[in-house]
Amino acid sequence: MINEKIAKLINEQVNKELYSGYLYLDFANYYADEGLDGFAHWYEIQAQEERDHALMMRRYLIDNGVKVTFGEIAKPDKKFKEHIDPLNAGLEHEQYVTSLINNIYREAFAINDFKTMQFLDWFIKEQGEEEKNAEDMVKKMQLYGHDAKGLYSLNQELAGRVYTPSATGPAM
Ligand code: FEO
Repeated sequence: MINEKIAKLINEQVNKELYSGYLYLDFANYYADEGLDGFAHWYEIQAQEERDHALMMRRYLIDNGVKVTFGEIAKPDKKFKEHIDPLNAGLEHEQYVTSLINNIYREAFAINDFKTMQFLDWFIKEQGEEEKNAEDMVKKMQLYGHDAKGLYSLNQELAGRVYTPSATGPAM
């Protein structure tokens, strides 16, 4: 068993990860509608990764004797005017998720829950990568996204993203 407060925070994080996937599919909807299928593809894969994160946390709770409960997943409500807008929103969202993971880690640390800290190590690293990816996307868009050729190339590049299941996640 794990501490009740920690279990509650991780259970809430399952919902946040599922929301992240929903949010990124919403980004993909926007890009698909704009004819930027590479951008849409990139976010479809990101949504799959978020679902993986949710499932890893759900599994951790189950394996530690916690009953998982699901809440509502909020409706994505962002409105976009420019092609760079979802990229900026994505970076902001990942920074927010990092703060949530850090908070769970802080709580686990406070009560010497070493098992949960070890479980979260993977997510701490993953958040570093996700923030870096989001920053890179914003930078590339700022550099190359202003003219049609640059946008076309970037779209082609993003179309090449391959989904890799998060099987390398924390041992459960
Ligand atoms: Fe699951 Fe993008 O954090």
